[in-house]
Amino acid sequence: MTGRASWTSEARASGLMVLDATEKGNHPVYSKSDGLIEQEIVGDSLAIQYVLNQVRIVAKTDSMTLIQGETGTGKEVIARAIHDQSLRNRGPFVKLNCAAIPGPLLESELFGHERGAFTGAFAQTKGRFQLADKGTLFLDEIGDLPLELQPKLLRVLQEQEFERLGSSQTIRVDVRVVAATNQDLSQLVANKQFRADLYYRLNVIPIILPPLRDRAQDIPLLVEYFVTKLSARFKKVIDSIPEEVMRILKAHDWPGNIRELQNVIERAVVLAPDSVLRPALTELKQMTKQRSAAATRTLAEAEREHILEVLKQTDWLIGGRDGAATRLGLPRTTLVYKMRKLGIETRRSSRVRSVQQKHDTEPPLFERAAASGLPTERFRAVANF
Ligand SMILES: Nc1ncnc2c1ncn2[C@@H]1O[C@H](COP(=O)(O)OP(=O)(O)OP(=O)(O)O)[C@@H](O)[C@H]1O
Ligand SMILES: [Mg+2]
Repeated sequence: MTGRASWTSEARASGLMVLDATEKGNHPVYSKSDGLIEQEIVGDSLAIQYVLNQVRIVAKTDSMTLIQGETGTGKEVIARAIHDQSLRNRGPFVKLNCAAIPGPLLESELFGHERGAFTGAFAQTKGRFQLADKGTLFLDEIGDLPLELQPKLLRVLQEQEFERLGSSQTIRVDVRVVAATNQDLSQLVANKQFRADLYYRLNVIPIILPPLRDRAQDIPLLVEYFVTKLSARFKKVIDSIPEEVMRILKAHDWPGNIRELQNVIERAVVLAPDSVLRPALTELKQMTKQRSAAATRTLAEAEREHILEVLKQTDWLIGGRDGAATRLGLPRTTLVYKMRKLGIETRRSSRVRSVQQKHDTEPPLFERAAASGLPTERFRAVANF
């Protein structure tokens, strides 16, 4: 199911995108058959579809999952989706933000405490692990978990048992843990700020959320989704979006990702004097200009840009003597892994993709490409991937 804002010929002529009532709410979303779902995950880029496919697969397992991505990319939304699609969805979804609670209190938040365990512990209290029994515990900002608590977390992840503070009685639970972070955990491990054993335990199934600027294709869908949702909430009628506005929204680099986009749309909806969406675009343009690329670039971003540059030079040929992997001095499989991790899509034309889909059942790809008159140069990139 795909949902796109429609462009009528009159709208195109007038430079307005018209929100077609019949298509409102018709977004590509994941949904649950029992209808309990309240959050839509909007997007039809390959990158987000890849993530949603991972969600569908991991949800059915009980594996530990680590969600990584920049701020505002939807880590919490994905954590909830995993819970909602899992066999535990009738159980609780309990959340704990490790960065929001000071170190000494965090232990008690996680595991609970007995009355009198410390000054101010006036009553016995259950920790989040116990509250999440038979459900999912979402440990947000896991990179901020103090080092001294990390062995305790590792123990409960491995053995599903712990003791409350001030008690020697062991409590057993049945909890699935989903963790999230916007930090580079492997870097924290290298800096000895995060235990390697805990990192490997958490990172059984990694899910990497792509930044919004790398899936600009989803921006019109998201804009339409937020306009529809927010105009209903604020009882406004917004029925068109100027073409120029959409062009600028698609070009902005969105450091705050989907949350930033949502805020920009919310402000525009609230302040709209008529039914046309006109966000404060000069603000966006200035913000983009102010950010110097090097000053804000993380190591992962720099790596990503470098890989993209080399891929461009090799016309997206990955393997072989002249491929990007050789130029980067990496084994092909390592480069493919890195590309997935960094959310780099292979550039495949739809023609190429449709033939590649058949590839599973009808090799060899290259020969069929040549026989069907398709450009075999492009095929080398796909075949090598
Ligand atoms: N694919 C999506 N479709 C629609 N809304 C989304 C999507 N992803 C995220 N959002 C919305 O964007 C906002 C930010 O999402 P979320 O809180 O999950 O991000 P986050 O990665 O956890 O951010 P942070 O690192 O700052 O905690 C939320 O309001 C969420 O509902
Ligand atoms: Mg979050």
